[in-house]
Amino acid sequence: MSPSAPILLFDSGVGGLTVLAELRELLPDAPVIYAADMAGLPYGTKTEAEVAARVAGLLGRMAERWHPRLICIACNTASTIALGMVREVLETPIVGTVPAIKPAAEITKTGTIGLLGTDSTVRQGYVDDLEREFAQGKTLLRYGASGLVALGEAKLRGEEICVDEVTKAASGLVFQPGGEDLDTVVLACTHFPLLEPELREAFGKDVTFIDGAKGIARQIARLVQGQEMEREVPDFAVTTGPMDDFEELTEAFAAHGLKGLVHL
Ligand code: DGL
Repeated sequence: MSPSAPILLFDSGVGGLTVLAELRELLPDAPVIYAADMAGLPYGTKTEAEVAARVAGLLGRMAERWHPRLICIACNTASTIALGMVREVLETPIVGTVPAIKPAAEITKTGTIGLLGTDSTVRQGYVDDLEREFAQGKTLLRYGASGLVALGEAKLRGEEICVDEVTKAASGLVFQPGGEDLDTVVLACTHFPLLEPELREAFGKDVTFIDGAKGIARQIARLVQGQEMEREVPDFAVTTGPMDDFEELTEAFAAHGLKGLVHL
């Protein structure tokens, strides 16, 4: 493998930057391509078939074009729907992003955990399996908060955001039966950590937020351990959508070490 082979991080939008930020801490020298399926955003309100087809098709094209050493699907929605299928069709090692139910179950004191994800993620069988495997004897309350995705995108573009959707998301968990006992909330969408201060305010009580970004970065670092890495070109971001829209994110990308913008 070429030392310049990149790690490809893929999301529907800018949410995966929360994973990239953690990856930079562990692997500052790793060549990275960040890919955002802006033409497909948002995934959270699409059908499983639509998401699976987009993700498999796009990752196949990008793997052929850039020969990544590893692909990270930095999106809970895409991972809970399509991880197994994409692993079957691509030879590149693939790391997924799945709701951090396991660590949440380990730290909750009350035994009541909230799960905020996109509408699509919270209904996935993958989440049922994680609950069965890691949260036995705990209460897992789920709420689909797809509206927060656009807010995360807007915040990163430096736009003013209205927090009504954030309040709705917090209420959607707290006002479920048993919700008063919540002490831990899984942010099961890579866009949501971008809104952590607003979410903290909206919950208005002491809850611990937990997301998978650090764990995913550690997993990537483990898988590429010992591999030679050398940047031949500056890291860049790729979009499937219009370039002028993508250019509004130039600053946010630059802050994550992504110096060029490319259209797929
Ligand atoms: N960032 C994605 C996730 O982690 C979803 C955003 C979307 O709805 O496209 O689930």
